[in-house]
Amino acid sequence: MKKILTIIGARPQIIKAAALSRAIKTKFADQVTEIIVHTGQHYDDNMSEIFFEELDIPHPNYNLNVGSGSHGKQTASMIEGIEEILLREKPNCIVLYGDTNSTLAGAVAASKIGTPIIHIEAGLRSFNKSMPEEINRIMCDHVSTLLFSPTKAGYQNLISEGFKEEQQPPYSIDHPKVYHCGDVMYDNSLYFSQLADEKTNVLEKNQLSSGQFILATIHRNNNTDEPERLNSLFSAMHKIANANKIKIIIPLHPRTAKLLAKNLSSELYSLVKTSGYIKIISPVSFLEMISLEKNALMVMTDSGGVQKEAFFFKKPCIILRSETEWIELKNCGAAKLADADEERIMEAYTYFSKKQQLEFPDLFGNGKAAEFICEEILKQIN
Ligand code: UD1
Ligand code: UDP
Repeated sequence: MKKILTIIGARPQIIKAAALSRAIKTKFADQVTEIIVHTGQHYDDNMSEIFFEELDIPHPNYNLNVGSGSHGKQTASMIEGIEEILLREKPNCIVLYGDTNSTLAGAVAASKIGTPIIHIEAGLRSFNKSMPEEINRIMCDHVSTLLFSPTKAGYQNLISEGFKEEQQPPYSIDHPKVYHCGDVMYDNSLYFSQLADEKTNVLEKNQLSSGQFILATIHRNNNTDEPERLNSLFSAMHKIANANKIKIIIPLHPRTAKLLAKNLSSELYSLVKTSGYIKIISPVSFLEMISLEKNALMVMTDSGGVQKEAFFFKKPCIILRSETEWIELKNCGAAKLADADEERIMEAYTYFSKKQQLEFPDLFGNGKAAEFICEEILKQIN
């Protein structure tokens, strides 16, 4: 029996972990025990608790309850807590997702005490080191033993950074193995898509008609913390909504919700708050989110996960950033980078609202990435 220890903390990691936990439960229950450690990076019910029951994720064995804080303080408390649990549980490996402070903390704690690291969503790069996530993902990749990249571009980034394509087992931190294996979030979107239709009424609840609204999310630190960018984003959305009489629904991340009144001009704040077309709501569950994505006319977002889900459900996406790690989405024409630039966002809206034929090639695997990852962990980790 192999013992794996999974670190989750931020919303997207909890959702990603559902795919692996499901694969373990359905195919590998007699070979793998999973210990789940929640760092507590996200803690509001609608950023954490809501997902466990809905996505059938086992409740965490440990919660470090670190909460919010500066990067150093938050990451340091997580490292301390994770180290203690690793020493007690002595797992065969640790599984880390993505690029958050919880990922980095797991990577530092595990690498220093010699626990092999499995990095899921390895190799993604924005080539912008002013993003905290870019630092986290580079540091995690370079102390990992098995690196699972969801995309070809991610795999190529790792090769460019010196990881070797031809590597023979046994693998270790000094002799790592890189894979291009598809995306666990694609697994999840396929798996939960029908359930989302059956189990949610998010459209009715928000008086939305299929194909007649835009779904938007904003939470990236530069977009929320720089008033000029936040104003530009909301001004663009307000103009698009009013000029085209189209509703924009925004399930708002708590980070953004807390900064809206402070960083928007009072005039724009009141326009947004009283607009009949812009609807700001609290974060929704994953099934509700999928339902919104499936039924939207288009998506506007600075989220990594939401960009991809727009693509999975064949919706055009306006990326509210200057670059993306999911470069394939832009290259195939299904997404456009518009940054926090009012003009570019409005142009992208006009472009996508006229364009009929978009291509959504198979870029993210076959919906069985999590199974493949489990099989490789079982084969390659002692
Ligand atoms: C984090 C990740 C980011 C990821 C995002 C997913 C880092 C450095 N960033 O960003 O990569 O895209 O999660 O959502 O790890 N807050 C609450 N309640 C919560 C959680 C957060 O109110 O449950 C508020 C707090 O004011 C907090 C702020 O949001 O200070 C930011 O939270 P934090 O987890 O530090 O970063 P995110 O912006 O969520
Ligand atoms: N999500 C959700 N409810 C919301 C907003 C997002 O369930 O109100 C899901 C979304 O479907 C995706 C993930 O959260 O699977 C993305 O998380 P987020 O945008 O917070 O982070 P990122 O992917 O940018 O790291």
